[in-house]
Amino acid sequence: MPTLSPPPLRVAVIGAGVMGRQHVGTMKQLPELDLVAIVDPFSSTLADEEKVPAFKDTETMLAAERPDAVVIANPNDLHVATTLRCIEAGIAVLLEKPVATSLDEARQLIDALRANPVPVLVGHHRRHNPVIARAKQIIDSGALGRPCLATVLWQTRKPDAYYDIAWRREAGAGIILINLVHETDLLRHLYGEVVEVQAFTSNAQRGFAVEDTATVSFRFESGALASIVASDAVAAPWGWEKNLNEVAKFAKEYDQPCMMLSGTEGALSVPQLKLWRYGERADWEAPLHQQQIGFQADDPQVLQLRHFERVVRGEVAPLVSVEDAARSIAVLDAIHQAAREGRSVRPVRV
Ligand SMILES: NC(=O)c1ccc[n+]([C@@H]2O[C@H](COP(=O)([O-])OP(=O)(O)OC[C@H]3O[C@@H](n4cnc5c(N)ncnc54)[C@H](O)[C@@H]3O)[C@@H](O)[C@H]2O)c1
Repeated sequence: MPTLSPPPLRVAVIGAGVMGRQHVGTMKQLPELDLVAIVDPFSSTLADEEKVPAFKDTETMLAAERPDAVVIANPNDLHVATTLRCIEAGIAVLLEKPVATSLDEARQLIDALRANPVPVLVGHHRRHNPVIARAKQIIDSGALGRPCLATVLWQTRKPDAYYDIAWRREAGAGIILINLVHETDLLRHLYGEVVEVQAFTSNAQRGFAVEDTATVSFRFESGALASIVASDAVAAPWGWEKNLNEVAKFAKEYDQPCMMLSGTEGALSVPQLKLWRYGERADWEAPLHQQQIGFQADDPQVLQLRHFERVVRGEVAPLVSVEDAARSIAVLDAIHQAAREGRSVRPVRV
C-alpha cells in the first residue's frame, strides 16, 4: 500500500517586506507548505499578489485562519512580542533572526516555551547551507588539528536607500544584530561557545544611532580565538552574500573567502572549501598543499523551510532552537557592552 503524504501545512507569513517576500517565493517551490495569509499593518501588496487574505495584525489572523505555522519576518524589535502571541495560541513558528534584540528579551521566549512547548525554529538559514555542514564535518574530522584561529570578513556597501526604513537606523538594528548575528552563530556552531569578547564599533560613515562598522575579537571555551572585521559602508569583495550563491541579487566574487579557519594541522577557506595542509615537513618554510573539498550545493532557504515542515510535524528537533539562538544574542549583548565600555566582556551563560 503506498503511504499517503499528509496534507500541506497551512502557513501564514507575518511581515511582508524583503524577507517576508523571499519566504513566500521559497514556499511556492514546496508543495508541502501552503501560504494561507499574510500579516502586515502597512501593506497588502504581497497578499494581493498571492491572492491570500491580508491582515493588519497577528491576533486577528490567528483567530480567523488558525494556521498550522507562521513565518515571522517583521522588524527585529517585534520578534519576541509576535512569537509570544503565537506560542500562546499554540502555533509553530519559524522566526527570522535575530531571535531577540537582547538576552533579557530572549529569556521571555525561553520561559514561555518552558510553560507551553511549541515548535520554534530560528531562521539562521546559513546553518542549513551544505557548505557549512561540510566545513563542520572537516573540522570535526580533525583535518585542521586543534582549531586555533578564525578570520571572518563581512564587508559591503548597502545602498543609502536601505536606511530609508526607520527601524534599520535605530537601537535593535545595526550591523551587529542584523548581519553579524549570522557570523557569530556560525562561529559558535564551528568552534564552540564564546567566553570573552572585545570590540570596537563605529557609526562614523553613516552617522546613525547604530553602528555601520565593527571589529570584534572572540575567545572560545576551547582557547581558540577569532576576529570579525565588518562594515556595511565599504567597497570590498569579502562577505557571505558576495562569496556564495545564496541570494541572486548580489553580484558575486566567488574566488574570495569570507571565513578563514586555521588549526595546528591545517586551514580551510569558506566558502571555497580549500583545505591547506603540510606534507612530510610541517614548518613555516615548508610548502602547504591545497586540496579542493567537494560538496553538493543547495538552496539553504529551501532546506530551512523543508526542515521547518518536519519540525512542525514533530519529526525532528529544530536545528536552531530559541535557546541556541539566545546564546548568540548573549554574545552580541557582550559585544555591544565591550564596545560601549572599552573593555573585554564575558557573555552571560544561557
Ligand atoms: N535571514 C536573513 O538572511 C535575513 C535577511 C534580511 C532580513 N532578515 C530579518 O528579517 C526581518 C525583516 O527584515 P526585512 O529586511 O525584510 O525588513 P523590511 O522592513 O523590509 O520588512 C519588515 C516588514 O514588516 C512589516 N511590519 C511592521 N510592523 C509589523 C507588525 N506589527 N506586524 C507585521 N508586520 C509588520 C513592515 O511593514 C515591513 O513590510 C528582520 O528581523 C531581519 O533581521 C533576515
